[in-house]
Amino acid sequence: MRSFITISSLVSAVLAAEPWLEEPDTGLVNYLASTNYTENSLPLLKDMRAIPDFDWAAEAYLGDQQYAFYRTAAAGEWSYRNNLDIWAKIKFRTRMLNDVSRLNETLPVIFMGYNFSAPIFIAPAARGVYGDERAELNFVDAAASENILYTASIYASKSIEELGAQKHNDTMNGPQVAFQQIYGNSNESVIWEQIARAEAQNAKAFVFTIDAPATSTRHRAARYDTTNANAATGALTWDLYDRIKNRTKLPVIPKGITTVDDALVAIEKGAPAIYISNHGGRQLDHSPSPLEIAHEIYKNAPEVFTKVDVMADSGVRYGTDVLKLLAFGVKMVGMGRPFMFANCYGLEGVTKLIQIMKNEIVSDGAQAGITDLRNVAPKIFNTRALDNTVYLMDDEEIEVKNRVIANTKKH
Ligand SMILES: Cc1cc2nc3c(=O)[nH]c(=O)nc-3n(C[C@H](O)[C@H](O)[C@H](O)COP(=O)(O)O)c2cc1C
Repeated sequence: MRSFITISSLVSAVLAAEPWLEEPDTGLVNYLASTNYTENSLPLLKDMRAIPDFDWAAEAYLGDQQYAFYRTAAAGEWSYRNNLDIWAKIKFRTRMLNDVSRLNETLPVIFMGYNFSAPIFIAPAARGVYGDERAELNFVDAAASENILYTASIYASKSIEELGAQKHNDTMNGPQVAFQQIYGNSNESVIWEQIARAEAQNAKAFVFTIDAPATSTRHRAARYDTTNANAATGALTWDLYDRIKNRTKLPVIPKGITTVDDALVAIEKGAPAIYISNHGGRQLDHSPSPLEIAHEIYKNAPEVFTKVDVMADSGVRYGTDVLKLLAFGVKMVGMGRPFMFANCYGLEGVTKLIQIMKNEIVSDGAQAGITDLRNVAPKIFNTRALDNTVYLMDDEEIEVKNRVIANTKKH
């Protein structure tokens, strides 16, 4: 629940030279004030025009504890804010008068050999039931009708079997493709059981979350005694990654890559894809945003993007955010919180969010003079503001990189 203007937001606006806007001003608040909108209720779905609108709506609608669980981030939440702010650091260098009239035909993507209608996916997130009683069933349905990828959280409100049974056999590309996220566990038999259950439901890949070696510091959620879904798990190691890989014929994608070093270890280990993410800033404060991570990999080892398929999430809210990640070579871009918030409107809300993002990618891509979304050149933007701070490998690290790249076949 929320009120229209809080005292704290006024105070921080006065105190800070550059106040950080919790949500960008999409005009929603002013607009609702001119309608019959009742405070603390869900606005009409037709009034959701931008992805951040769903955050505002969810805060109004959900209980404080539930909203806090979705919204929370680690410690001072600087990573969370950076995830949202960093996009503004790099500006487009649009080349005008490119023929962009067929850009929409390049929206579909092939990821890990599977066809999807757009380079976006629903990231794994726990406790979908807060927004709607159908919980993640809405994600399965919307992903099927919009033909995008859904990756189920192991802590989803619905079971692996319920989500498996909900999958659609008749998407425009045939049976629905979904991935299953898993965590490490000090009792490994739990992981093996989860793998067997997901395989039985025809999951097409595992996303193994590597950025949760311990309980994270989340003050906002702790206030409501809302625990981490991922409490301390025991030793998370690349050996565990190997053991998981040996347990299943399905691809195992490490989620939570934040350095070029780990991207290289992953491909050396034979990962067929990597998942760049700082978990939406929920694990470690001051961990870098996906834009900074993709940039670090691009500057040091651009070959990574051609050797393996790369997916990424954290802080993505606009079509332009997606375009910037695609330009570095990321193939699929995910969102977590936005889908949880949109789920307050049930299936219709989740579907609308996907459609907003698809439209923005194509419209903004055309505005940026992009002619092929599957081949966006990094020269589309000016990265100098990031170039000044990017980590660059030393000679020894470059030698290691060259060896790894030379020994890696394209997956
Ligand atoms: C409420 C919530 C629950 C989450 N649960 C999981 C989870 O169970 N497993 C996981 O790997 N990531 C989880 N995540 C992280 C997301 O997969 C994703 O990395 C993150 O939400 C992306 O950032 P964004 O929310 O800014 O889009 C969760 C995120 C949220 C917001």
